[in-house]
Amino acid sequence: MEKIGVLGAGTMGEGIAQVAATYGHQVILIDINAEQLKKANASLQKILNRLVEKEKITQEKANSVLGNITFSSSIADFAPCDLIIEAIVENIEVKKKVFTEIESKVSADCILASNTSSLSIASIGATLSNPSRVIGIHFFNPAPLMPLVEIIPAVQTSENTIQTAKRLIDSWKKTSVLVKDTPGFIVNRIARPFYGEAMRIYEEGIADFATIDWAMTTFGGFKMGPFTLMDYIGNDVNYMVTESVFTAFYFDPRYKPSFTQKRHSEAGYYGRKSGRGYYNYAEGVELPVPTQDEKIGKEIFNRILMMLINEAIDAVFLQIASKEDIDLAMIKGVNYPKGLLKWADEIGLKNVLTQLENMFHEYGEDRYRPSPLLRRMVSQNKQFFS
Ligand code: NAI
Repeated sequence: MEKIGVLGAGTMGEGIAQVAATYGHQVILIDINAEQLKKANASLQKILNRLVEKEKITQEKANSVLGNITFSSSIADFAPCDLIIEAIVENIEVKKKVFTEIESKVSADCILASNTSSLSIASIGATLSNPSRVIGIHFFNPAPLMPLVEIIPAVQTSENTIQTAKRLIDSWKKTSVLVKDTPGFIVNRIARPFYGEAMRIYEEGIADFATIDWAMTTFGGFKMGPFTLMDYIGNDVNYMVTESVFTAFYFDPRYKPSFTQKRHSEAGYYGRKSGRGYYNYAEGVELPVPTQDEKIGKEIFNRILMMLINEAIDAVFLQIASKEDIDLAMIKGVNYPKGLLKWADEIGLKNVLTQLENMFHEYGEDRYRPSPLLRRMVSQNKQFFS
């Protein structure tokens, strides 16, 4: 595979182009917005210069990476490509239109991939005359730094397309995982309770943002607490993902969005990018101090972890991905300190089930229902990895 086309020179497209060019591919980076192409070019130069300054790469390497990328605003320039990765706006109608156009310009065996975080690959494939070449190739932000790539075959995708995509991504030294074409794929599905249950704990008045964040970093070993992380991602973006996963799952109450997040987002409290989110980032304003109550801290961490584990187990139950890939995805895609299934084994599946059942009985809400697979494994005295 020599020539790679990347459509959309925004945050993700620019990063994906950098990765492909670093591994020696000729990359054609296309955007409808000429300004955006200029911006991406300048930004790539800056990033590569910084890597040279830090002695991570040589000047020659930086020159060759940039030299491998051609910037264009015409989809016709994708003609010689073996693979196209689309990274434009997250809108199914726009994506469908663009995929139809790309297919009319490229060779019969060119693979057509989307970097979508939430849309169905099958519906993108349905617009193609040869849908067996469609696939999801989902990078994480920033693409050059985050090792995980989710590979998502649609029901129409051929085995050859899957294997070719996987070989290519592995050759870029990424960790690839294979996922069913379902909302949120692995990471954006399983990570929902990290945010949702944290907000629920806040809404119940159990603790404030700072204390919940403290509990997750101190007792869970997570790099960032949920509120700090949402402020980094952007509350608006995180809220939209939550809402789209909730809608896509036919309003399964497990994924119900939170009013706390909705109101923060409506208020323009997007997080770091707007200077204020759950925390106030204005100069001179001190961040709130957590109430360092060990008992409450451990309870908070435990409750969120149980919900995350249940979500991971349910993903195995519904064959969203293999148990190995599910654990790998959370470590490599969102820096979790441990795979959730391995964590469950360590805690003891019976213990996990008891804690979930207690919450289910206390609240009477479907969101706390234990996965049938967890019950089955406990009754059979099994572990995920033994
Ligand atoms: P972005 O808004 O930074 O960039 C999108 C780019 O696409 C813009 O430069 C825009 O001019 C261009 N564009 C829009 N319509 C176009 C068209 N018809 N033809 C050519 N170019 C067009 O968006 P971002 O964040 O890079 O996201 C792109 C895709 O990647 C979305 O599907 C998103 O869901 C997905 N994604 C985003 C992640 C993130 O953290 N930002 C992570 C993983 C996936």
